[in-house]
Amino acid sequence: MDYKVLGKQQLEETLASERKVFKKLQKTGRSIDMTRGRPCKEQLDLAIPMFQLLVDANFQTAAGDIRNYGMPDGLKEAREMFASIYDVRIEEVLVADNSSLSIMYDLLQFAKQFGVMGSTPWNKLPKVKFICPAPGYDRHFSICEVLGIEMITIPMLDDGPDMDMVEALVKGDESVKGIWCIPKYSNPTGITYSDKVVERLATMQTAASDFRIFWDNAYAMHTLYENDVKLKNIFDVARKAGTLDRVYQFASTSKITLASAGIAAFMASETNIADIKSKYFFKTIGPNKTVQLAHVLYMKNRENTAKIMKQHADIIRPKFEAVEAKLAEAFTDDEYVKWSKPNGGYFISLNIKSCAKRIVELANEAGVKFTGAGATFPYKLDDHNQNIRIAPTVPTVDELNVAMDILVSAIKIARMELVLEKCFSN
Ligand SMILES: Cc1ncc(COP(=O)(O)O)c(C=O)c1O
Repeated sequence: MDYKVLGKQQLEETLASERKVFKKLQKTGRSIDMTRGRPCKEQLDLAIPMFQLLVDANFQTAAGDIRNYGMPDGLKEAREMFASIYDVRIEEVLVADNSSLSIMYDLLQFAKQFGVMGSTPWNKLPKVKFICPAPGYDRHFSICEVLGIEMITIPMLDDGPDMDMVEALVKGDESVKGIWCIPKYSNPTGITYSDKVVERLATMQTAASDFRIFWDNAYAMHTLYENDVKLKNIFDVARKAGTLDRVYQFASTSKITLASAGIAAFMASETNIADIKSKYFFKTIGPNKTVQLAHVLYMKNRENTAKIMKQHADIIRPKFEAVEAKLAEAFTDDEYVKWSKPNGGYFISLNIKSCAKRIVELANEAGVKFTGAGATFPYKLDDHNQNIRIAPTVPTVDELNVAMDILVSAIKIARMELVLEKCFSN
């Protein structure tokens, strides 16, 4: 809808009547939180049998009782399980506690304090930079910010980061030490990297010998539909190209079992694993193998995990479809309102130029909370003030319908206010 064509008076009237609609919606007094990608209660309930399986197994594996200290790499069976899911070698897997984000943070801190496989500690360098395709995951950017790593924002395209920019940056500047990647069902855009992008990342020339790709493969198993999108295995490409040391891959079961009692994996070349283990040695005497065993007994392997993920998809697919239906009903063919239609992952990404902050503010006033506008960009700088991340998994479909009516109305109001201000302000 191009509100300019209405002219000032009609636009003011339309805005006034939309404000009435909004007021009515506001009176429903709902409190709906769509700020983060969290599993809903029904999803969490799916994983509860893992604790009974653990008790039934009496905490035993082939190696004996696993309740005590030890096994810094994680339980062998848990490493085998991640190796099967991610198609890497067991020697390339280290299984830790519940958060992959926490491993990412540790690795960056280790790099800053001790260097990477013998390189100069990044703290001793005048500057360290990371490439941040955006929109991206706010928590990646927060880690860089708190650790003083300078972020270079580059566009996220439909098939992954803008690789011409990435290649130019890493080739010419030794202070560029890494790139954040969410290669499958990306947060928030839902895109999956093309084969070509994976190949270019694995084979590009980097000025820094300690450059690392932070391959946050959080949504590898999280398809919403039967036709799962295939991501090229970066380990295969990098192994062939002799660049495997450049890849740090991360995964977790936060959205497969329980985010608070899940397990996470770090996957990398054997030399990287040895390097990181030598640093973790001082931090922990071993991970929570008890919870790891519960996961092995419940998830088993890739095939069985895919079955579990189908149960998750059946619960959350209608929620994605409810959001899609409301947006399509209000804005199909509207060139000013664009949104993603993801095949998997946890988010829908919405773009409305120059309006994101106002829309989030209005929705918040009506009890619907989104992640702050700008959060999907480094330093919260969304130059076009356009991106809003919708996380539809926690609310019920009924709640989502209410939340989306509020969002749709907020979008209309914000757009009309903008046109009045820009085109008819005097
Ligand atoms: C891309 C991505 N990576 C990591 C995480 C957090 O993972 P974990 O719970 O394993 O720390 C999230 C959570 O939403 C995510 O979207």
